[in-house]
Amino acid sequence: MIVTVANQKGGVGKTTTVVNLAAALAELGKTVLVVDLDPQGNATTGLGVSSRTDNAGVYDVLIEDVPMAQTVVGVPETEKVQLVPASLDLAGAEIELVSMVAREYRLRKALAAYLEEHPTDVVLIDCPPSLGLLTLNALVAAEELLIPIQCEYYALEGLGQLIRTVDMVREHLNPTLRISSILLTMTDSRTNLSEQVADEVRAFFGDLVLDTAIPRSVRLSEAPGHGRSGVAYDEGSRGALAYRAAAEEFTQRTVDLRDPTAETVTA
Ligand SMILES: Nc1ncnc2c1ncn2[C@@H]1O[C@H](COP(=O)(O)OP(=O)(O)OP(=O)(O)O)[C@@H](O)[C@H]1O
Ligand SMILES: [Mg+2]
Repeated sequence: MIVTVANQKGGVGKTTTVVNLAAALAELGKTVLVVDLDPQGNATTGLGVSSRTDNAGVYDVLIEDVPMAQTVVGVPETEKVQLVPASLDLAGAEIELVSMVAREYRLRKALAAYLEEHPTDVVLIDCPPSLGLLTLNALVAAEELLIPIQCEYYALEGLGQLIRTVDMVREHLNPTLRISSILLTMTDSRTNLSEQVADEVRAFFGDLVLDTAIPRSVRLSEAPGHGRSGVAYDEGSRGALAYRAAAEEFTQRTVDLRDPTAETVTA
């Protein structure tokens, strides 16, 4: 299963979701590959790996045709999670990709070659906050799209553009891409606003929205500073429990979706 986590809005919880879903899926016994496609490298550092080294990373895969297997590293927290790290030069990839052949397919091809040799249960791709060629590569490589939405004002702003991009990708580049889930993040039960936004998102997207929402939790925001997922950093915290529940719900949902007798969901 190849899952892209995208939303071109910044700071909505994409990286936190990738890192913590990876950790929660690992707890469920799954092998996970995280691909850090964001030049900020937050998923890389959040998993305890330095993004400021000369080691090969996703840039080399996309631009230099380095086989992905040569860039994959382990993470300190668990041997079930592996990582294709981001590095500083990734910022240039967005521009360098423009003139490349089959520029939207480079990640898809590299990932397919890797997975053939290294079977992996779940691939999670973290995207930068933009709809440029890096995110496009992620959408073309993916089977499923998970969209985190932060429960605040303007939450739905920009989503129309994201959905149109997904439609374009489906039509021209990756017909089997599916928006499988929307995850509400940073909910705050003490504010009416957060609940209002959650209601609004559920009214708009219906069953696509996971029942589990991720509450605002200080422990989740502290964890990256320790190079760990929130799930492992404070196992019993509300954030950890929520991400575990989200991981279970998400896996169950994608299993249901793959069952040909189940109703298909499209957005
Ligand atoms: N549930 C949460 N509770 C508290 N803080 C959170 C939560 N989720 C994310 N954060 C914090 O909010 C900030 C933004 O989260 P995150 O980096 O995951 O978003 P992002 O969408 O990946 O951002 P970007 O668009 O810059 O890549 C981070 O400081 C993170 O630690
Ligand atoms: Mg991020």
